Amino acid sequence: MSRLPAPDLVRVADDLETLASYRDPQAPGWTRRVFSDFDRAGREWVAGRMEDAGLAVETDAAANLIGRLPGSGRRPGVVATGSHTDTVRGGGRYDGIVGVLGAIEAVRCLRQAGAELAHDLVVVDFLGEEPNDFGLSCVGSRAISGSLDEGHLALSGPDGRSLAEAIAASGGRPAALAGARWPDGLHCYIELHVEQGPVLEQALVPIGVVTGIVGIHRLLASIEGQSDHAGTTPMSLRRDALAGAAEAILAVERFAGGGVATVGRIEIRPGAHNVVPAEADLWAEARSPDAGWLDNFGRNLAEELDAIGTRRHLGTKLSWISREHPVTATDWVADAIGEAARSRGVEPMSIPSGAGHDASHMARLGPMGMVFVPSRAGRSHCPEEWTDLEDIGLGIAVLAEAIVLCDQREEERPGAAAHLAR
Ligand code: GLV
Ligand code: MN
Ligand code: MN
Repeated sequence: MSRLPAPDLVRVADDLETLASYRDPQAPGWTRRVFSDFDRAGREWVAGRMEDAGLAVETDAAANLIGRLPGSGRRPGVVATGSHTDTVRGGGRYDGIVGVLGAIEAVRCLRQAGAELAHDLVVVDFLGEEPNDFGLSCVGSRAISGSLDEGHLALSGPDGRSLAEAIAASGGRPAALAGARWPDGLHCYIELHVEQGPVLEQALVPIGVVTGIVGIHRLLASIEGQSDHAGTTPMSLRRDALAGAAEAILAVERFAGGGVATVGRIEIRPGAHNVVPAEADLWAEARSPDAGWLDNFGRNLAEELDAIGTRRHLGTKLSWISREHPVTATDWVADAIGEAARSRGVEPMSIPSGAGHDASHMARLGPMGMVFVPSRAGRSHCPEEWTDLEDIGLGIAVLAEAIVLCDQREEERPGAAAHLAR
C-alpha cells in the first residue's frame, strides 16, 4: 500500500474548472490556442497554482513554464513531469491539462506526505503542444530537447509574425534558444495524459501504461495553377489548383492504409465563386509506430504530387514541416508506472499512443514513460472530451507513486537516447 495521501478530488475539479474558464468565447468548445491572450492568461494562472503548491517557478527561453521542487541533491538530473495547457480550436478540457494540473496535485500529495526526493522534481507546462498557426506542434518540448531549429523559428504565421516573435510575446527569449537543451540532465520524464481513444474504456481498465508513441510526419503541399474566368475558360485549358489538390487529398487517404493520414487544413486563392483557383495549400500529416511506413508514405505522396502536377500542368511543392520518429517508452519507467498502479489496486493495461505528446521529444533527453486514463467514448480534440474525476484522481495517484519509485532508481549511464526507435 502507498504511503502517499489520495489526491484531493474537490481541489482537482476546481482547478480543471478554473483553467477551463480561460477560453476564447468567440471560438467553439474550450478553445485556448497557443500564443493567444487566453493561453497567456491561463498559463499565468497555472504559474500561480504551481507557486501555491510550493514550487519555485520560472519561464525558460522557449516560454516553458517550469515549477521546481528541490530534492535532497544527492542525485544528478531531474525527475520531470507535466504536459501542455494549450488546446486545438474547438477542443476540450482534459487533453494536456490533466497532465499539468495532475502533476501539481501530485506535488501537493508528495509534500503533504513529507516525501523527500533525491532528485529535483520539475513540473512543466510546455509551450504550444498542439499544431499552431505556423504548422508546428510541441514548440516547448521540441526546444528543450534541442530540435527547434532556425528554420522553425523563421516560420511565418497568418499575421506575418515569425514563430520567434510569437515565442517572445509569450515570455520566451528566442535569441537564447539556439542549442537550448534541458539544463539539468534528465533522470526521467513521466507524463499523465488522457488516452484520447476508446481502448481503456472498452476494456474497463482505468490505467494505461504507454508502450510507445507513434511517429508523426507533417507536411505542406503547395499547388500552383492559374486563375482564369470560370465562365469563359474551357475545361481542357484550365490549370485548376483546387482540382489538383482534391486528387492529392484522395492520395493521402489511399496511402494511409496500415497507418493513419489526414489532410486537416486547406487554403485556396483567390477563393471566389467565379474564378478558377490559382493556388492551393494543403496541411497534412501521417502517423505510424513504424518509421519505415512513414518514409514510404512520404515517398509515395511525393511521387503522386509530381504525377498530378504533370498531368494537370500544375506546379507542386512538398515541404516537410516536422518529422517525429516513433519512440518507445523506457522499460524501467513503464515498469514503475505498472507497479504504482498495482499499489493502488489496479492491474493496468499496456497501450500504444496514436496521439503525439511532449513525451516524444523528452524521450530524446532521457528515459520516458506515460500514464493514460480513459477518455469517454474515446472522444478528444472536441468539446465533448471527458474523463471521470475518479479516473483522473487515480491517474494522479499513480503518477505520484511512479515519481517516487523512479526517483529511487539508480542512474544508468551512458546512452540515455538508446531507446529511440531509430
Ligand atoms: C496531439 O494532440 C496530437 O495531435 O496527437
Ligand atoms: Mn491534443
Ligand atoms: Mn495532448
